[in-house]
Amino acid sequence: MKSLNSLNWQSGFQQLSQSFLKEAQFNTKTIKGSDNLLRAFIVFKTSKKDLTSLFKGSLTNAQLNKLINSKSPYEYFSHADENVLVIRPLYLTSKPLKAHSGLLEPSDYALSRDAMGMLINFVKTKSPTHCRVEIVNALQTQLHGVLVGLELAQYEFKKILHKKSNACKFYIFKNKGRILDSQIKNAQTVGVGTNVARHLVNLPSNWLNPQTYKGVINKLFKNLADVQVSTWSEATLEKEKMGLLLAVGASSPNKPVLVHIKYRPRGGKPPIALVGKGITFDTGGADIKSSAGMRNMKKDMGGSAAVVGAALSLCMNKSKQSFDAYLPLAENVVGSASFVPGDILQARSGKTIEIHNTDAEGRLVLADALDVAVSKSTKDKPKFVIDVATLTGAIKVGLGAEVAGLFSNDDGLSLKIQKASENTSERVWRMPLFSDYKGALHSTVADMTNCASSAFGGAITAGLFLQEFVQDVPWAHLDIYAWADTPKGALLEPGASGQMVQCLVSLLN
Ligand code: BES
Ligand code: ZN
Ligand code: ZN
Repeated sequence: MKSLNSLNWQSGFQQLSQSFLKEAQFNTKTIKGSDNLLRAFIVFKTSKKDLTSLFKGSLTNAQLNKLINSKSPYEYFSHADENVLVIRPLYLTSKPLKAHSGLLEPSDYALSRDAMGMLINFVKTKSPTHCRVEIVNALQTQLHGVLVGLELAQYEFKKILHKKSNACKFYIFKNKGRILDSQIKNAQTVGVGTNVARHLVNLPSNWLNPQTYKGVINKLFKNLADVQVSTWSEATLEKEKMGLLLAVGASSPNKPVLVHIKYRPRGGKPPIALVGKGITFDTGGADIKSSAGMRNMKKDMGGSAAVVGAALSLCMNKSKQSFDAYLPLAENVVGSASFVPGDILQARSGKTIEIHNTDAEGRLVLADALDVAVSKSTKDKPKFVIDVATLTGAIKVGLGAEVAGLFSNDDGLSLKIQKASENTSERVWRMPLFSDYKGALHSTVADMTNCASSAFGGAITAGLFLQEFVQDVPWAHLDIYAWADTPKGALLEPGASGQMVQCLVSLLN
């Protein structure tokens, strides 16, 4: 679709990369000329006695008693010209769970991050012109969570689109010591990467198509050090024999591309590879989806957005982890050039694929991109490769929308990802790659079909299909949903969730 509009949606990314925290003032306690002030206290482990001395000047005795006996993670007190909000992020912690090796418990980082949704909700409803945020007794990870949460909670699609800036000015400080520039910068990079991923997913497909997406990625990385973005357009894809990516993108006027982000910091660690599914819209193709199934399919590039967001965080934070990110971008629409069921396509790896269902397009574009990632030689050969994709509806049925399915041929890599997921409380759950399920992909006319003959175990057979393209490289596949229908924690706006950006950054930083 050609789009006629004067909104210049591309420029939103500049505002997002600037970060909301950049407008805040740090380590300043006295605020002048602020008659409409909200005093927020983010309180970590603090004794009764210390609470009393902390709030002596700003709360009445009755209020202080209420706070001390409160069972709520937040209390709001308003009297005379004082507006005091007290948030205790760890109050949300329930008793430690004994099952599943602790994998089900939220981390302190996540509790601190998610509590910032409450603060920004207050700012939105009470509309103060100034907000003084005092962070009391926070450990390093808790402070990091608070700062990332403040960045995430301020994201609003319309604010970015219409280039509105914040009405409220923030002053942020700790009760003890200073907030270091490196701590601010670190949180900004995580927050910005996640918000960029959210914004990419929220953009409609009449704006964000493979070609404009390519342009956005180029701009995002343009001024960063040690990173290059290159793209393979149709002619190169043909030369490279990427028959699967070409077939999926064939019927759209917005031609498919493979974007490659290459990051090589000086003195960096050997490279790893990331691959993200970038279907800017998934109609299902000739095997067209129902209207309910198609409604939200602008988000089918959520895997690539997570990879772009994480890559951006790592580059902004000058990470020592070298990486190659590959993003196969295409639009799966219906047209006269569409591929159809029964077609036999040849993958870049040489394998022939019989198309059983054109709606199983994600694994096709990923297969060709994974092949590029793993067939590099010597110094560019990745230590491991991780792909991220909104690959199947089946995983959401099994695990729920918020939990990513983790598939891997390597226990070590899998454990590392589980650890990172635990740190950030972006939940993943390891799923099995039963090799005997491969029989479901059997084809009598090609090496395999792109979709199992049975509907059972759909996320597993999709994973097994991908595994055919990673050779002997340690590999993990994250089957994500990328979307949250209702606000939760620091994500105040329903829509794209930035799923897996924080987990990937925690893993690689
Ligand atoms: N993009 C979808 C998967 C999807 C659907 C993710 C709904 C999130 C929410 C993918 O391309 C797809 O259509 N997969 C099919 C595979 C099937 C045809 C084997 C599916 O899951 O139904
Ligand atoms: Zn599909
Ligand atoms: Zn899809």
